Amino acid sequence: NHLRLRHVESMASFPSDAGKISHLNAAILGEALASEENDLVLPSHDFSRQALIPSPHKYLEMYKRSIEDPAEFWSDIALSEFYWKQRWGDQVYSENLHLNKGDIKIQWFKGGITNICYNCLDRNIDAGLGDKIALYWESNEPGFDAHLTYSQLLHRVCQLANCLKSIGVRKGDAVVVYLPMLLELPITMLACARIGAVHSVVFAGFSSDSLAQRIVDCKPNVVITCNAVKRGPKTIHLKDIVDAALIESAKDGVSIDVCLTYENQSTLKRESTKWQEGRDMWWQDVVPIYPTTCEVEWVDAEDPLFLLYTSGSTGRPKGVLHTTGGYMVYTATTFKYAFDYKESDVYWCTADCGWITGHSYVTYGPMLNGATVVVYEGAPNYPDSGRSWDIVDKYKVTIFYTAPTLVRSLMCDGDEYVTRYSRKSLRVLGSAGEPINPSAWRWFFNLVGGSRCPISDTWWQTETGGFMITPLPGAWPQKPGSATFPFFGVQPVIVDEKGNEIDGECSGYLCVKGSWPGAFRTLYGDHERYETTYFRQFPGYYFTGDGCNRDKDGYYWLTGRVDDVINVSGHRIGTAEVESALVSHPQCAEAAVVGVEHEVKGQGIYAFVTIVEGVSYSEQLRKSLIRAVRNQIGAFAAPDKIHWAPSLPKTRSGKIMRRILRKIASRQSDELGDTSSLAEPGVVDQLISLADC
Ligand code: WTA
Repeated sequence: NHLRLRHVESMASFPSDAGKISHLNAAILGEALASEENDLVLPSHDFSRQALIPSPHKYLEMYKRSIEDPAEFWSDIALSEFYWKQRWGDQVYSENLHLNKGDIKIQWFKGGITNICYNCLDRNIDAGLGDKIALYWESNEPGFDAHLTYSQLLHRVCQLANCLKSIGVRKGDAVVVYLPMLLELPITMLACARIGAVHSVVFAGFSSDSLAQRIVDCKPNVVITCNAVKRGPKTIHLKDIVDAALIESAKDGVSIDVCLTYENQSTLKRESTKWQEGRDMWWQDVVPIYPTTCEVEWVDAEDPLFLLYTSGSTGRPKGVLHTTGGYMVYTATTFKYAFDYKESDVYWCTADCGWITGHSYVTYGPMLNGATVVVYEGAPNYPDSGRSWDIVDKYKVTIFYTAPTLVRSLMCDGDEYVTRYSRKSLRVLGSAGEPINPSAWRWFFNLVGGSRCPISDTWWQTETGGFMITPLPGAWPQKPGSATFPFFGVQPVIVDEKGNEIDGECSGYLCVKGSWPGAFRTLYGDHERYETTYFRQFPGYYFTGDGCNRDKDGYYWLTGRVDDVINVSGHRIGTAEVESALVSHPQCAEAAVVGVEHEVKGQGIYAFVTIVEGVSYSEQLRKSLIRAVRNQIGAFAAPDKIHWAPSLPKTRSGKIMRRILRKIASRQSDELGDTSSLAEPGVVDQLISLADC
């Protein structure tokens, strides 16, 4: 109770005009926060005292400044913490987020000339960090590891950058990267950035079809991969997957000049890797011969940095495009404050660089801060469920950032795997990718963090580039399961169905007002889709696709996607993509996919499938349907359940009623609601009776 009181005191000194910032109206009332019914977890006094943002008061002061004068707020940071070859023009930013006013357009630091690789490496080395460890690498197999200092990393990056240039990669060219978590993955990203090439990393769990689809979309000349990777006990032959993808993409008229292949020595021998002379090159044969210095390609802040494909509710994956300057400033600043970064920290983010978290918070955000980063190749539960904590102890990790699905799965495996290790180096924990349920939050907090490490539950998206709603450890009392408050410069709004902004305690659709430096600028090759997907439904705002509640204290609670996107273990999967993979199976006539609650994965994939006439449903067919999805998307998108549906519930106009399917999938068939618009009401009973077939 004395902790609660301490906080109430600090709240009493809030600036009186802070109340103008509507989302904080309630939060500034100390009594509300301190009331007994609130389930608050307060940062320790010691933690807060040394934190970058030590109090709600400090947060409010900075937040207010960031909203009232974004140009000044962000340009102060951009100028004091980054290197610009040339300053931007008169305007720090310009934006049009309203379709009625012409094309949607966001620009930050336009005219500013910089390079993000230079800012990650050269600038930090010049500041004396050359001998600091930049990357620790831990192999899938315990006992194998490596590390690179900032200077060594720069050398490696330059050699690859020179090699890419000699192959003919130029500023603005796309480079597709299909690598697992080897040091070569961040090296490749940084090398592309150094020469102004646009990397498009494809998560190495995607199938050859998905890889081919991305290659066809962005048309690179070079693909970078490795022969194979071990994940847990399994060896995955990545080069074979790339070979198959390249055959597919060639059919669509996109052929590759060079496939640069890293020899991951712990896996396959060179001799057993299939090879196409003239196209394929071993990394180890060519890259090390290049000089260890490489001129920087200076780029405009608005030049593209990378493309990353992500799933939407309809159609093909979207190529989210991020540019250089704003993304740089935003990822570095969010990293610094949301994890309360200190120079002595050792930081480990378990995400793969194939997803946005690995872009912003394995590579760019931490490196821009000169942080020491752990990169782990393997599975978090290999050889057993204690591996993560073994790694934490081995490298004395202080900041550990992961996904709720990992927390839940380790929680199921038992506390003894955690308590076997000391974990005393840990200072801050982080979570991202999906809502973290309060019981997982508590286990993470109490057991893993020994009740002393604040949890930064960071809400954000591929599109947002960096954290949008996140606790700042040390500043706020936390509520398990809430991402708390917006980051500096971010104005979340909750709207109703009609797009009216709702104030105070409420629930609705989460939108964002105004732009922020890390926002994506377009969908590659399809600006119209960018505008319609994100800016049409609620005019004047960026629509996130998420549902959200705001409680009486102003805390934000993300409730998950409100569109047809499923979040499986933190991986975004469009129901339409899974459906299209299923119907590509010759015996599948129609498919409808919905998400269902899943104890470990957050959501599971539940597929209703109608098969073609004359074929009977069997176990063999079920397996082959699942195989079709694995082959077309990747193993992570395999349906958890196939529900045979002789027919699907449709409206008279032929639209599938997913609301009903969701109820049947979650075994809530007594809550079907109004079924009067169904064309054939009998379909529902039939489906319910087949649920356990
Ligand atoms: C969800 C991953 C609740 C959300 C960084 C969002 C979250 C989608 C959180 C983006 C969180 C991400 N709490 N939900 N802390 N973080 N999400 O693009 O539904 O892979 O729209 O980016 O993940 O997924 P994406």
